[in-house]
Formats: sequence, C-alpha cells, structure tokens
Amino acid sequence: MNKSSVPILSVKNIVKKYPGVTALNRINLDFFKGEIHSICGENGAGKSTFIKILTGAIKPDEGTIEIDGVPHSSFSPYEAMFRFGIAAIYQEYYLIPYLSVAENIFMGNEILRNRFIDVKAMNQKAKETLSLLGIDIDPKMPVEFLSVAYQQIVEISKAVSHNVKILIMDEPTSPLTTNEVKNLYKLIGILKNQGVTIIYISHILSELFDISDRVSVFRDGKHVRTMKTKKTNKQELISLMVGRELSESYPERTTKSSTSLLEITRLSTPGLLKNISFTLHRGEVLGLGGLVGAGRTELVRAIFGADPISSVNIKIKGKSVTINHPEKAIKLGLGLIPEDRKQHGIISELSVKENILYSSFPQVSLCGFIIPKRLSRVAEKFKKLLRIVTPNLEKIVKELSGGNQQKVVLARCLATNSEIILFDEPTRGIDVGAKQEIYELINKLVAKGKGILFISSDMPELLGMSDRIIVMHEGRITGELTKEEATQEKVLKLASGE
Ligand SMILES: Nc1ncnc2c1ncn2[C@@H]1O[C@H](COP(=O)(O)OP(=O)(O)OP(=O)(O)O)[C@@H](O)[C@H]1O
Ligand SMILES: [Mg+2]
Repeated sequence: MNKSSVPILSVKNIVKKYPGVTALNRINLDFFKGEIHSICGENGAGKSTFIKILTGAIKPDEGTIEIDGVPHSSFSPYEAMFRFGIAAIYQEYYLIPYLSVAENIFMGNEILRNRFIDVKAMNQKAKETLSLLGIDIDPKMPVEFLSVAYQQIVEISKAVSHNVKILIMDEPTSPLTTNEVKNLYKLIGILKNQGVTIIYISHILSELFDISDRVSVFRDGKHVRTMKTKKTNKQELISLMVGRELSESYPERTTKSSTSLLEITRLSTPGLLKNISFTLHRGEVLGLGGLVGAGRTELVRAIFGADPISSVNIKIKGKSVTINHPEKAIKLGLGLIPEDRKQHGIISELSVKENILYSSFPQVSLCGFIIPKRLSRVAEKFKKLLRIVTPNLEKIVKELSGGNQQKVVLARCLATNSEIILFDEPTRGIDVGAKQEIYELINKLVAKGKGILFISSDMPELLGMSDRIIVMHEGRITGELTKEEATQEKVLKLASGE
C-alpha cells in the first residue's frame, strides 16, 4: 500500500439511520489499491450496513463515496458492480444450482455471438479465470454438485470476471474447513497481487491477523480506529470493539457428575450416521469435534427428531424413549440450537419478543392464558443476558444484525428451560463480548445439573469448554478424549480419520 497515492475508495461522513438506531454515524474511511482491510466490531456495530452501502444495496442518508477521486452520493448495485468493480461475497451464495460453473460466472454478463449465448467461449473464459486463481474445476459442472468451498470460489470467480477492483467478504470462512480456509487465503493473496482491494469482515480475530494489512474497528455505528495489523494485538482490538476490558480465556468450571442424562446406543440413519453410541452426564459439557461434513449436525438433528433414524436406543435419565418429532424432543426436555439459524431458527416476520418466547408458552402462561407481563420479563432478561442489540423487544427480527438474530435463537432455546441442550456452533457469527456471556451461561446451566452437547469448529473453544470430547469422521465416532488428554493435534487426527 502506498500512503501517498489517492485512495481507490474514500468514504466521507456516511450516515445511515433506521427507526430507533443510527446504524452508521459519520463514517470516514479510506481504502487503498491492493490492500487487505479488515473491519471488525460487535454484533450490530454497523459492518453489514456499511458493506451494503458500498455495493449500492442501500442508500446512505448523508455523506459521499469517492471512487478514484470522484464523489458519488449513491449508486445502484449494477453501477457498483459493472462501472466501479465493487463486488461482495455474502454468507449465502446467490448461485443458480442447476446451471454450470461458467453459466453462473457469466450470469447477467453472458458472452454473445450473433445474439446467441456462446457457451464454448464462456467455458473457455471461465477456465481461464479459474486457472488465474489457481483452481481446477470443470466449468461445465452444475454448481449444485460442488462443495460449499467451491461454490464460494465460483462466487469469487464471478467477481473477478467482472473486473473486480474492490472485493468485499462478509464472514467468508464460516462454512469452510481448515484446509479450505488456507486455500481461501491463498486466493486472496493472488487477488491482492493483482491489485484488488479486499475488505474482509470476520468475528474470528485470528483471521484478521492472518491476512489483513490494516484493520478498522466499528462500535455502535461509529468508526473507532484504523490500525496497521502489525502494530496492534488481539487484546487491543477486543477492548476497542467492546469498549471494556475482557479476558479471552474460558471461565473455570467446577461441576463434576457421573449420573447419566442422555444415553444414545447404536444410532444409525439412512444417510451418513453409523452406529453412534455415547452418554451425556448431568453437569457435563460433552464436546463434539470433527470437520465440516463429518455428520455432527446430522447427529444432533437426528437425536432431536428432526431427521429420520433407521435404528437407535435412546435413554433419558435411564428410561427408554422414542423421539420421532422435535415437539416430542422438547416435551422430553431436549433443546436444539440449530447451526443454520436462518433456515431453522428464526421466524423473521415476528418480533424479537415473540421469537424468544415462541417455544416456551407454558412458562409464560397460566391455565392457557398468556400473561403479558411475564412475557416481557422473560424476554427482557434474555435481551440483557445476551446483549441483544435492539431498540425494543417489538422490533421485527429480520431487521436485526446477523449476529443479533443468532442471539435471539439462542435466547429462545434457553428460555424453554431444557435439561439437555444440543448446541450446534452456538458462537458462530457472534462477537467476542457475547461469546464470553455464552460461555458463562453454559457454566451456569451445567452447574444446575443440565447436560450440554457442544458442537464447535472453533478448536480453542472446543478444547476450552468441553469436559470430554468425542470426535467424528464420515458419520462415525473415531475417538474420545478427556479434557486432560485433548489437544488440537489429537482432535484433528481423529477428525481426519487417521
Ligand atoms: N433493515 C433494517 N431495518 C431496521 N434496522 C436495521 C436494518 N438493518 C440493520 N439495522 C440495524 O442497524 C444496526 C447495524 O446492523 P448491521 O447489520 O450493520 O450490524 P453488523 O455489524 O453487521 O452486525 P453482525 O456482526 O451481527 O452481523 C443494528 O442495530 C440493526 O438492528
Ligand atoms: Mg453483519
């Protein structure tokens, strides 16, 4: 990055307000050609709103965006992409599953020959773009047959083929395995060398240090500071993000118990899972390790009655039970915090309060009558506990930031008072401050004698929080480690099936 050069993108005094919140409050920020610039901040700090303004998806209330020195008050998504070369990779990909890699790359920008789509030329050009990025996939392959990581690559190739100058990535690594993350880094490096500016958003701070040249911190819609990554550290970033001191360690737990709470024997599914057996005890956090695709989500969904099981014996507190539906699971005291909270967790048209209390009406009602006061009290309690950022509890959930939507799902599962809680990646997309709250909460729950099955792809977190860890590979359990013997290497070895 050359400081004396004109910024490729310069944001001046950007303001964006929503009812009851100032999502962006006078943001001033410069981006330079070929730099990797990370943005971090707590859930609801304004990161995604900022990105949406850069891609033309929403218009700012005030301020200008200078591109190559020319000021614009706003522009359309089409202009952003095709005129300015600004593209964003979001967490959900916008690919058409049954179309080929090449067709997706050139979607809306097809290569024509005598007014007909020139498939051959598109395949050729797609191959060139992909090899430019060091990727070898068949451009004729329908994207539905690709893994998530490759789908992401197709998204990136799409941006590259549009002559991208500024590529924005909003939490790109969450669906990726460790190796895939390394490949993504490599790809980002190639783009940087080609002079592309990368704007990178993530809640995983180590990633920011791995790849970025500079990092900017947002807090409550304000730009707090921009620093060279080399000149700062995790602790400083965290305190700038949350505005208070915060330890990065895992809270101590003293509970120990050997009473069986949930016993799973020989669980198999028509799909991936083969012969899974384990016991979860009272007062225990049982970690579930493995790589993406190992079957961890399938396992908790099957236990919860959300997916078909071909054979199993389930005992809860020593009594044999059958669970054929999530409703039954909830009645038996099970709670599931799903991984894909957008699809399975949230009712986006309902308010924060309704979402939190959706599964726990018995506790907020008396003889079938809802007691509004009790309703508000419970919802308010969880809003505080998890620091859900919302001007009030009546706000429609889809208007919350991504991470705050996740917190609402968490709150709902916790409000039901389940005894056995299946946590599937509970801290993914959640900011550092709230992560600590969730760890504390987990400790409180186990101290009350509950049992927790804990899936996490964040290795330090898995090691730090679990009393015991079982590891899965291709639908089977490959090993079990006590807290004392568990190390990152051992978990990875079992996870890769060695
Ligand atoms: N369409 C909308 N209507 C009303 N409020 C909104 C809307 N979009 C965002 N907000 C509010 O603007 C604020 C900033 O949200 P934003 O999504 O930018 O946060 P974020 O930093 O991306 O958080 P996260 O880490 O959780 O993704 C939040 O308080 C959010 O509730
Ligand atoms: Mg966001």
